[in-house]
Amino acid sequence: MSSVDTPAGAEPDSGAVLLRLHEAARVHGSGTAVPVHALNGVSLEVRVGELVAVMGPSGSGKSTLLHLAGGLDTPTSGDVVVDGVSIAGLSVKARAALRRRSVGYVFQDLNLVPALTAVENVMLPRELDGVSTRVARQEARAALTEVGVEELADRFPEEMSGGQQQRVAIARALVGPRRLVLADEPTGALDSLTGEAIMRVLRARVDAGAAGLLVTHDSQHAAWADRVVLLRDGKMAEEAPFTAGFPR
Ligand SMILES: Nc1ncnc2c1ncn2[C@@H]1O[C@H](COP(=O)(O)OP(=O)(O)O)[C@@H](O)[C@H]1O
Ligand SMILES: [Mg+2]
Repeated sequence: MSSVDTPAGAEPDSGAVLLRLHEAARVHGSGTAVPVHALNGVSLEVRVGELVAVMGPSGSGKSTLLHLAGGLDTPTSGDVVVDGVSIAGLSVKARAALRRRSVGYVFQDLNLVPALTAVENVMLPRELDGVSTRVARQEARAALTEVGVEELADRFPEEMSGGQQQRVAIARALVGPRRLVLADEPTGALDSLTGEAIMRVLRARVDAGAAGLLVTHDSQHAAWADRVVLLRDGKMAEEAPFTAGFPR
C-alpha cells in the first residue's frame, strides 16, 4: 500500500502516483479467430494534482483505458495499480470495493438511476460503502453544491436538463473521499458554457488533492489538463504537455 490513504481534508500528498499502468493490454476474444487488441501495451502514470486528457480517434482504446484504470475491467497482460493496489490480482468483489473507495467514474451515458432523486443518486455509492444515511446525505449535498446544482437535490433525472443530469453524474463521481476521477467524454453533449463549468469543477477537485483522467474530443477542454495522451490503435502515440496545436 502507498501512503495515499490521507483522509479528505488533510494535506494532500501532492505528487504521489495514484494511477500506474505498466504495459497494460486488453485483448477481446483471444480464443476466437480475430482477437481485438483494444489496448496494446500502454504505460502511464497519473499523480496527485494531475489532470491528464486522453484524446484519439473513435475505436482507439480510450474507453478501454478508462475501464482498466477504474477497475471495471482487468488487463489481459501488464499491470494496473490504483492507489497502491494492483487490479489484476483482485477478486471481483475486491475490485468493486476498491472502485467505491478510490475511484469516481463519470460514464459517457451518465447512468443515473431514474427512480432516485438527484441527492439519492449521489448518496448511493456512499451508502453502498457503508456510510450512514445521514452522513451520505450531507456528503451528497456538498457534492451537488460543488457542481452548482444544490437546488436540484430533490428532483428526479427526468425533471432535469441534460446539462443538469451531467452535473449530478459528476457529483456522484466526486462524492466522498475518492481521489481518482475518471471521466469519459463528460462534456460530450453539453453546451460550451456547461462544458467549461464542468471542466472547472474537475480541475478544482484535482488541484485539491485528486488525480484525473479525462477522455475528450474537445481541445478547449483538453486545455484544462496538465498533459495530453494521444491514443491510436490501442497504443500511446504521443504524450505531451498541452499545447493548442496538439494533433487531434
Ligand atoms: N467488449 C468488446 N469486445 C470486442 N471488442 C471490443 C470490446 N470493447 C471494445 N472493443 C474494441 O476495442 C477497440 C477500442 O474500443 P474503445 O476503447 O471503446 O475505443 P474508444 O473509446 O477510443 O472509441 C475498438 O476496436 C472496439 O471495437
Ligand atoms: Mg469511448
